Amino acid sequence: MFDLERIRTSGLLRQLEFREEIDSTNDLAIALLKESSLETPALVLAERQTAGRGRGTNRWWAAGGALTFSLVIAPDLSGITSERWPRISHCAALAVAEAIEEFVPGAEAQLKWPNDVYLGGRKVCGVLVEVPAAVKGESPRVIVGIGVNVNNSLADAPDDVRARAIALADVLERSIDMTAFLLALIQRFHEAMTHLAANDATLFAGWSRRCLLSGRTVVIDIGGRMVRGRCRGVAEDGALLVDGASGLERILGGVVIEFA
Ligand code: BTN
Repeated sequence: MFDLERIRTSGLLRQLEFREEIDSTNDLAIALLKESSLETPALVLAERQTAGRGRGTNRWWAAGGALTFSLVIAPDLSGITSERWPRISHCAALAVAEAIEEFVPGAEAQLKWPNDVYLGGRKVCGVLVEVPAAVKGESPRVIVGIGVNVNNSLADAPDDVRARAIALADVLERSIDMTAFLLALIQRFHEAMTHLAANDATLFAGWSRRCLLSGRTVVIDIGGRMVRGRCRGVAEDGALLVDGASGLERILGGVVIEFA
């Protein structure tokens, strides 16, 4: 499924940890960081992930052919200080959207704030960013876990799954070279991180034109406080703009529980 030599010699990574089967690549990354110092950027890649974790209490089910991996980065070393870390997940989602558009001719990927990627109204990718406890004397590490439905066709999945999710192979009606797709995605992620470090408007532009929630009525759960209103897109700093009962709110963190 993967050409490991091509990944190792791509020049995009300093370490590769590959497993044929693992419970969760994020959990493996956390364990590896505890027992050793990973050279960043490191890629933790699995051919099959059996107990992937999603945001909150969600699980991430991935049948064979799904792309599941975690990137371990040291953002401080790239000039990204902690106040900008929340935007790392925005970089990851944008990178996935751009890679999809490169590999699926005519595709228009959309971004559901804060970090889901949609295609044709259905979810194609989820991102789970975690910050493990820092090791004394080392720059803090951030784990960027990404799951993309690539070659895991959902053609035979139950109707309710097919209504919510989509795989690239089903759109293309053929399978994709997973190694090429993965490397393009990582390259795009590095580029997005460079823009985040420079604090230029490129990330904002990429998000703005793909924002799935723009113009829709949304309900956001912000730690138990519900905000309902019309979404006005994203701000330059990545905040979601929602026109609600108390005027325009800039939402920096929360869970979208409804959108219509
Ligand atoms: C979500 O949509 O809630 C986020 C899903 C993130 C899934 C990926 S798959 C690779 C990495 N390892 C995990 O256990 N989860 C992330």
